[in-house]
Amino acid sequence: MSANPLHPNLNAEDLALALSGHNFIDGELAPTRSGRTFAVINPATGRKIADAPFSVADDVDLAVHAAQRAQREWADTPARRRGALVIECARLLASHVEELARLVTLETGKAIRTESRPEAEGIADMLQYYGGLAPELKGETVPHRPDVLTLTVREPLGVVGAILPWNAPMYILAMKIGPSLVAGNTVVVKSAEEAPLAVLRVCQILSQVLPKGVLNVVAGYGPECGAPLVAHPGVHKVTFTGSVETGKIIYKTAADKLIPVTLELGGKSPMIVMPDADLDQAAAGAVAGMRFTRQGQSCSASSRMIVHESVHDAFVGKVKALVDAMKIGDPMDEATDIGTIISPAQYDKVCGYIEAGRSLPGTTAVECSTLPADLALGAGLFIRPVMFTGLTNDSKLAREEIFGPVVCVMKFSSYRDALAMANDTDYGLTASVWTRDLKTAMDASLRLQAGFVQVNQNLVAQPGLSYGGYKNSGLGKEASLEAMLDHFTQMKTILVNLA
Ligand code: NAI
Ligand code: MG
Repeated sequence: MSANPLHPNLNAEDLALALSGHNFIDGELAPTRSGRTFAVINPATGRKIADAPFSVADDVDLAVHAAQRAQREWADTPARRRGALVIECARLLASHVEELARLVTLETGKAIRTESRPEAEGIADMLQYYGGLAPELKGETVPHRPDVLTLTVREPLGVVGAILPWNAPMYILAMKIGPSLVAGNTVVVKSAEEAPLAVLRVCQILSQVLPKGVLNVVAGYGPECGAPLVAHPGVHKVTFTGSVETGKIIYKTAADKLIPVTLELGGKSPMIVMPDADLDQAAAGAVAGMRFTRQGQSCSASSRMIVHESVHDAFVGKVKALVDAMKIGDPMDEATDIGTIISPAQYDKVCGYIEAGRSLPGTTAVECSTLPADLALGAGLFIRPVMFTGLTNDSKLAREEIFGPVVCVMKFSSYRDALAMANDTDYGLTASVWTRDLKTAMDASLRLQAGFVQVNQNLVAQPGLSYGGYKNSGLGKEASLEAMLDHFTQMKTILVNLA
């Protein structure tokens, strides 16, 4: 460990141990009141890299009280000053990119070059974006009556509870704390049990800039730590990314307290490939859209590829060739494209779907790339990407979110059928259409029932663009100005009688 614990530390194992067993509450690393811990495992080796505190309601209570104490002064800090501090946070994180990339690789098994480093760069970008939005926290004057001056002001909600998943833990953290902090709220983060370390490190780094208590993080399990955070009377807003099942539990608790929620709950996103599409572009877009470099563990994964029968075989062949050329291997190796699945539970879930797909009559499993031969990686949770062809949209594989490198490829003959198939899902997070025809592109963009629709590309969420689902994919938007104004402030109307 370097002499100053806040200097970048490129030895990820060493850094993991230094963070071991800690929450971050009221400006300091703190152990849990429960006295219990759980192991953080490197999914590429199966080996323990640190302990995380098994936080309970007492820890949540300490963190919420710290956030409450800090909130008034933070809200009273001029908005542009808060924005400047958040931009300063972004600058600090930019000098920790390499350290954070290695740490998140160690705990999640995501490949450093294709995933972890871009994620570490992305968090600085997201905070930089939000910091610049501070002057937009404006109200309006309303032409109500000539003798009454009527205006609106935007005020913070108070303490925000932010519950994170493990698939892009730092990026999702940034999407949640950026708008919360700039709008004048303070935050208690609950990290995911599989990936608590990089999130903890980010919060520790940011404590050099943020006043104590403004940003706190507790690690722990859903029922024992996440649930008490949502239920805490001092928490006035919950923002959550994760499963539909957990999202509904959180929504019910929030309903009892009458507090607002933002829920980002995953998807089963369609990608329609029309017969006139540029097939090379579409195949590259399929690889990007399926997030194969993240082992398909993405809410926005284009996991249902709906392809015109005339180009189906050529498209599948091109995607296979691209994925075959990707290297599955040691996540820390710069040559690796695809790392590991996050945990044994997720591995078993994904393998279960693959076995179910193999036994479906009429279905072909197109397996891609090769598993690593390196014996040191023998315990790693690697899965070969697989495309299932010959499926129908009513099969379990096409209906349920798998969150692994498993694609359903389905054929269509008429555009109308393709649209119907694309929209025949409980989810609605993202969608894309691939065509050279402007009319088809625009028609599909309007008719696809999803919150984030793209034509001839499959980008991830971007700072400045509202991101959020239709249907079971969630409630509310993230990553944009509207997200901050609509979901992290409350509006007050003030009437001044001048008569
Ligand atoms: P999950 O939704 O159970 O967990 C996400 C977060 O919620 C974690 O921090 C967890 O500790 C917390 N949590 C769990 N139960 C809670 C409760 N009762 N109250 C408050 N917080 C609670 O997701 P999990 O178990 O990690 O993965 C299961 C499936 O969910 C995945 O296979 C995938 O399909 C989906 N998922 C979707 C994500 C997305 O980006 N939308 C991210 C992660 C998972
Ligand atoms: Mg769960």
